[in-house]
Amino acid sequence: ETGYVTYDPGFTNTAQCESKITFIDGDEGVLLYRGYPIEQLAGKSTFLEVAYLLIHGHLPTVDEHDGFVERVNRHTLVHEDFRTFMGTFPRTSHPMAVMSSAVSALATFYPESLDPYSEETVELATVLLLAKARTITSYLHRRRVGEPLLYPDYSRGYVDDFLRMTFAVPYEQYEANPILVHALDQLLILHADHEQNCSASVVRITGSSHANLYASVSAGISALSGPLHGGANESVLRMLTSIQQNDGDVKKFISRVKNKEAGVRLMGFGHRVYKNYDPRAAIVKDQAHAVLSILGIDDPLLAIAMELEEIALSDDYFVQRRLYPNVDFYTGIIYRAMGFEPAMFTPLFALGRMPGWIAQWREMMLDPKTKIGRPRQIYTGSPVRDYVPLDER
Ligand code: SDX
Repeated sequence: ETGYVTYDPGFTNTAQCESKITFIDGDEGVLLYRGYPIEQLAGKSTFLEVAYLLIHGHLPTVDEHDGFVERVNRHTLVHEDFRTFMGTFPRTSHPMAVMSSAVSALATFYPESLDPYSEETVELATVLLLAKARTITSYLHRRRVGEPLLYPDYSRGYVDDFLRMTFAVPYEQYEANPILVHALDQLLILHADHEQNCSASVVRITGSSHANLYASVSAGISALSGPLHGGANESVLRMLTSIQQNDGDVKKFISRVKNKEAGVRLMGFGHRVYKNYDPRAAIVKDQAHAVLSILGIDDPLLAIAMELEEIALSDDYFVQRRLYPNVDFYTGIIYRAMGFEPAMFTPLFALGRMPGWIAQWREMMLDPKTKIGRPRQIYTGSPVRDYVPLDER
């Protein structure tokens, strides 16, 4: 009706792309990082080893691993002016807005790592971003609770020292609970990459203009913040809490979801690709039970989540729409047991996703077939018409 021939967008390099990094079978609930099943990596590997695997395509040798860890460690401290910059945001700011700004600002503090065409500077930006992401994320929490930035302790592991930088009191000896260190390491592995999800696509299309790594990942962080994407883990906790505060009536909430009350969705359920149980959700669910029981925490929200899942998995409304728990359904319960508030849940998702974003940006930049992202459209607007002067309208 527009009088124009519609343009079939068809295959564009932003709608689909080739990648060697992650494989998902949504019907079978399969997730592989560079061919390795997520279940094996979550059970046997470490976050930095998985980061190396995603970025470089193979499991590192001992020398490759130790060299990578040492290079990441060496870049953990941030410039004092960067700390001041992060300190200018209101303490009540949502940490995802601060994280996106902080990662983008890395380009101004570390210009020596910006050249996207040099393997050497790309590798420098890679280790610098992985390292600073942990300092930025810990500082997001510290700012919200009014505590100072803690400097890194290179003698500790990435996750162990992240928990220390986040929760330790200055000058007091702090030993992170090894159960929590292992649990968080596993959670970061589970979040490390996920094929062409919304935020990874944003990182790729931003980088396709040859924008630097920090600018591209900053855009990805912004995309992740949405409640339909990474922001869902925070929304799940708020959903569980609201059910608890309404006399824990799970069935009433399920009815509100099925009646499609405005804004009422079963957060942490459903997925664009998984039309079966998200394999990550299964691991997180088991981990939630293990962590809470070892810590002796009887969290009523876990019981509410379990009841929601049990009802939804046997209710036709959800079964017919192939809605299953996704990675965000149980993670918040574990993060809360670690001492994080809900606003920090999505930054933790972003911390875990850093290696995946970096790997996908590097793969896109190195692919000679990559063109600048330029989706087309089907035009449904007005046919051509002549301008009418203001006094004649
Ligand atoms: C992540 O892509 C990735 O890989 C993402 C991610 C990653 O690792 O990067 O896995 C991380 O983002 C996981 C998803 C986190 N988001 C949530 O948990 C938010 C709640 N979920 C939904 O909003 C929804 O399921 C999406 C956005 C995740 C997926 O949406 P789809 O596939 O586009 O589904 P849809 O919106 O087309 O809905 C299909 C039907 C609709 O009902 P009908 O119109 O057919 O009657 O299912 C319903 C929807 O209303 N539906 C839900 C629902 N999700 C879909 N109904 C209630 N609760 C839900 N959660």
